[in-house]
Amino acid sequence: MASLAVSLKRLQLKNPVLVASGTFGYAREMQAYVDFSKLGGIIPKTVTPLPRRGNPPPRTVETASGLLNSIGLDNDGIDYFIESHVPYLLELGTAIIANIAGKNVEEFVRMAARLGDVEGLAGLELNISCPNVSGGVDFGTNPEMAADVVRSVRNACDLPIIAKLTPNVTSVVTIAQAAADAGADAVSLVNTFLGMAIDWRRRKPVLGNKLGGLSGPAIKPLALRCVYQVAQSVDVPIIGIGGIATIDDVMEFLVAGASAVQIGTANFYNPGVSVNVIAELAATLDELHFSSVLDLIGSIE
Ligand code: FUM
Repeated sequence: MASLAVSLKRLQLKNPVLVASGTFGYAREMQAYVDFSKLGGIIPKTVTPLPRRGNPPPRTVETASGLLNSIGLDNDGIDYFIESHVPYLLELGTAIIANIAGKNVEEFVRMAARLGDVEGLAGLELNISCPNVSGGVDFGTNPEMAADVVRSVRNACDLPIIAKLTPNVTSVVTIAQAAADAGADAVSLVNTFLGMAIDWRRRKPVLGNKLGGLSGPAIKPLALRCVYQVAQSVDVPIIGIGGIATIDDVMEFLVAGASAVQIGTANFYNPGVSVNVIAELAATLDELHFSSVLDLIGSIE
């Protein structure tokens, strides 16, 4: 059987299919549906230094082939995460990558230092791309700020670091290059595209926060383009995200140059999708007579 193992610099995964932050809760919610040990990794919902209530409702709206959300980083804060979620997550038999967001570099650094002391975490994903909080996306839209936060976190802990990038920029390549130069082990791309829904009868935005982030199948070609562009120009492992829901989607992202993928919105309507595509990935590689998934990564001609 083909090997599915991948290495993204210091981050080792048993297979290249992870579940994306914000679409899988803290895993407990999914335990009836998913054999966690089969996953390449779990990235729980973003945590912040203090609890956050998030944005006013409505916070989600379905669109044609997509989902708009404006959750606003609703979470119970890092203390609760470390005390109540991490011990459970670390028993699940897969790589656990904590996802953190701060309002400034110091907040990122303080959280990274604390999580760096937790034995058993596989890595840190830096959410520098949330479109739903004021200040949240600034790090991800400015190459100097992206580099600063990556470099500072890298100096504060020994965990592998993934910078999660926004597509809401002129050049995602520029931001990816900055993160790579600053020492990111990988970049994950893309977070959601800034969008909007309007109830024209009421003459009002549908979302309580007016704007939200679009995910799901609608963004797949856009995300694939971003992955391809970064893979062509920047020497950094990429984790592809954006509308991935089938084995063909996974294959497309790997061929485009992603070393791994995250499945996000599809978890909401099919929680078992990730485990299914991992089995299909193994079968597809065998059909192709590939000995390793590595033979596929970046193989676009
Ligand atoms: O609003 C949210 O909590 C979304 C976060 C994100 O897209 O990173």
